[in-house]
Amino acid sequence: MAKKGLRSRLSRYGDEEFALFLRRGFLKGAGYTDDALERPIVGVLSTASDFNPCHKTAPQVAEAVAKGVRLAGGLPFIFPTISLHEAFAGPSSLLLRNLMAMDVEEMVDNLPLDAVVLIGGCDKTIPAELMGAISADMPAIVVNVGSMLAGRHEGTRLGACTDCRRLWAAYRAGSLDGPELDRAHDQLMPTSGTCMVMGTASTMACLAETLGFMLPGTATAPAVSSDRARFSEAVGTHAVTMAKTGGPKPSELMTKASLRNASVVLQAISGSTNALVHLAAIAGRAGIKYDLDELDRVGREVPTLLDLKPAGMNFMEDFHAAGGLPALWRRLKDHLDLSAKLVNGETIGDVIKRWPAYVDEKVIRPLDNPVVKGAAIAILSGNLAPQGAAIKIAAATPDLFQHEGPAVVFDSLDDLEARIDDPNLNVTPQSVMVLRNAGPIGAPGMPEAGALPIPKKLGSKGLKDMVRISDARMSGTAFGTVVLHISPEAAAGGPLALVRDGDMISLDVKGRRLELKVDEAELAKRKAQWKAPAKPARGYARLYVDTVTQAEQGCDFDFLVEAE
Ligand code: FES
Repeated sequence: MAKKGLRSRLSRYGDEEFALFLRRGFLKGAGYTDDALERPIVGVLSTASDFNPCHKTAPQVAEAVAKGVRLAGGLPFIFPTISLHEAFAGPSSLLLRNLMAMDVEEMVDNLPLDAVVLIGGCDKTIPAELMGAISADMPAIVVNVGSMLAGRHEGTRLGACTDCRRLWAAYRAGSLDGPELDRAHDQLMPTSGTCMVMGTASTMACLAETLGFMLPGTATAPAVSSDRARFSEAVGTHAVTMAKTGGPKPSELMTKASLRNASVVLQAISGSTNALVHLAAIAGRAGIKYDLDELDRVGREVPTLLDLKPAGMNFMEDFHAAGGLPALWRRLKDHLDLSAKLVNGETIGDVIKRWPAYVDEKVIRPLDNPVVKGAAIAILSGNLAPQGAAIKIAAATPDLFQHEGPAVVFDSLDDLEARIDDPNLNVTPQSVMVLRNAGPIGAPGMPEAGALPIPKKLGSKGLKDMVRISDARMSGTAFGTVVLHISPEAAAGGPLALVRDGDMISLDVKGRRLELKVDEAELAKRKAQWKAPAKPARGYARLYVDTVTQAEQGCDFDFLVEAE
């Protein structure tokens, strides 16, 4: 039988009893009693970091979890891991997600703990934690730090970062002056917590709860609410049960059925397209291929029901007050696999039956009155994206769903920054703006640069949207007719690398096609002249570009993906 508590994962000296003697001695030195050291151990993985302001309350969450562990007779150990914030990791926090996942896996796999509580929130943290915990297959439960409260500015409710983008675009276009931008800036992130719109953090919290890794109803509570504190304590208490029983393990929760449920919820919340990359990576750690075609099919049946920015008008605090995620599950019950298991031993069907009947229909809409009819996210293919591409239809402009226009190509992010506002840029509202070498290998780390800014010369005339395509990602808080995740990416020699200024590109959202109107002989000629970009010389960046998989496979390292 596997050893538990302090007896597990001993340092190897060739004498197990000595190793335990030493370990206990150090803990006695830290003030622990013999009684405490016999209890089940719950690791509390904290992502507190001054470089992660979204996780400002992570220490309070960790303390509340630890309180719950102690109340249930367990012994909590709070320990740190890499923490990632979207605005503090250049060129992209995705570059470091796999490093964090490795850190989580190795710490969870090598420390003497019987279960682990994963404190996550800001975009990449929950995906990295789930990837690591699944690979370690340690009983794990997620508690998120919770979202910010909505801001208020001169009669308008503001949300990070949908309104950050809206206000910045207005400032760029000259319709908002500096002083007003400054006043609104103070209210965009009015409390600690994660972005309070349906960005990637909110999306991944909802999906982690749907996959079964959170206590039902906990994903949506604001960071500064008493619900957040009580839920955290309850998570600690439940983690002791998991430590004692040894389950459920992540491998029991991650199934094709729970993944399909995640796709249903992703469409219904009009979640972030980043979830496609993260779900593929999380599934890959369990040896399951995330089925993007299934996501597309699900989208044809499940409309957007959740009225949250950017697809709607409300914020996470409204979702929580409207009934929370289980109230949305109830709306979706004919589309979900109700037998999917959750971390607390219930099924989704059990939770739907016991959840309070109250629902605010303005926020969690009924199926016959959706926020957006049809799919929120669609998967495209075509000669420009042989392995696929994604578009968030719910954030795009219907008039551009069927569009053909000449390419304006930016060869890299540096090129984009240098030329986007050049008055001589040959661009019109009909152009298709192309950004390449911004993918997993090309950037590296596939930054959220896919929503290319509207060139000033067009924005200043009132143009709000145009077709933009790239091998980059896009923030879940962004909007526009933006085709993302084109695969294979340009730096891997995909057709995107061969596009030239003036080539005609056609987007057909209904037909799910993205085509480059250049004949095959010409493309073969261009391919023969193509040279792969130089790789970083050393270090983590070199490991990254040598082993990262493409977007549809999750951008994980190939050597960390479990065989199917
Ligand atoms: Fe942390 Fe948005 S930047 S959740």
